[in-house]
Amino acid sequence: MKIYIGADQGGVDLKNELYNYLKENAYEVEDLGIYDHTSIDYPDKAVEVCHAVLNSEAEDPRGIIICGTGIGVSISANKIKGIRAALVTDCFSAKMARQHNNANVLTMGGRTIGVELAIEIMRSYLNADFEGGRHARRVAKIDNIMEN
Ligand code: RB5
Repeated sequence: MKIYIGADQGGVDLKNELYNYLKENAYEVEDLGIYDHTSIDYPDKAVEVCHAVLNSEAEDPRGIIICGTGIGVSISANKIKGIRAALVTDCFSAKMARQHNNANVLTMGGRTIGVELAIEIMRSYLNADFEGGRHARRVAKIDNIMEN
């Protein structure tokens, strides 16, 4: 697994905490910024992280994107074909996002969630595996939704 992590100014502090945790725990992780509180537009960072996931040659690449609420980057990421982004605020949903939805991107809010809970959510997300079976059929239906 390789993890690509990014944030806007609303999420950079939490992103840095999560990045440090991942490095300290020997995950393969690439920090795509931002690195200070410079104001950016969150859809740009969401697209950057999602493209890194989709273009990755690593096995089982994942994205983690943090904005103020997690909402803007989640909406943005889910516009991209091949991305299934889950905005998560609890550990059970984090596990389900993997087991049932095969989410390849996790989003959270830097202004809505504490660091310790965010780390536990991230751990739940990273440690759960997609169950396949009937869920594979449903996820395939998600991936095939194309409406104007
Ligand atoms: C930026 O101020 C803020 O709008 C952004 O981080 C995010 O919360 C959007 O959903």
